[in-house]
Amino acid sequence: MSDPVRSDPVRLDSAAEPVSAEAVEIGPVADLPEGSQTEVQVGGKSVVVVCEGGQYYALRNQCSHQNFPLLGGEVSMGRITCTKHGAKFELSSGKPKTLPAVKPVQVYQTRVQGGVVWVDSL
Ligand code: FES
Repeated sequence: MSDPVRSDPVRLDSAAEPVSAEAVEIGPVADLPEGSQTEVQVGGKSVVVVCEGGQYYALRNQCSHQNFPLLGGEVSMGRITCTKHGAKFELSSGKPKTLPAVKPVQVYQTRVQGGVVWVDSL
């Protein structure tokens, strides 16, 4: 006898959704301990995933100075050091902190879900 009640579609809480289809699984937390470095392919690019201070960081595995891989560089105080000429990059932002690098390296978002580390593709 009356019009049906109309309501807007229910919006899902994005925070409750599973990781995006473009996320790359790195591996179980147990396999990526403090101090570990892991190379993975994300969107066709080499990325190094570093665990430091209980956090996971993902950076393009290519120094912005002369494109040398960052994998295997010393990590301390939130920075990774390029083994070629010694430039240091901030893990969280990819910003260069010492010469000879003057440009940042790309960083990727990481997350831990269900005991597994993921990196989001850009
Ligand atoms: S290639 Fe990394 S500092 Fe030169």
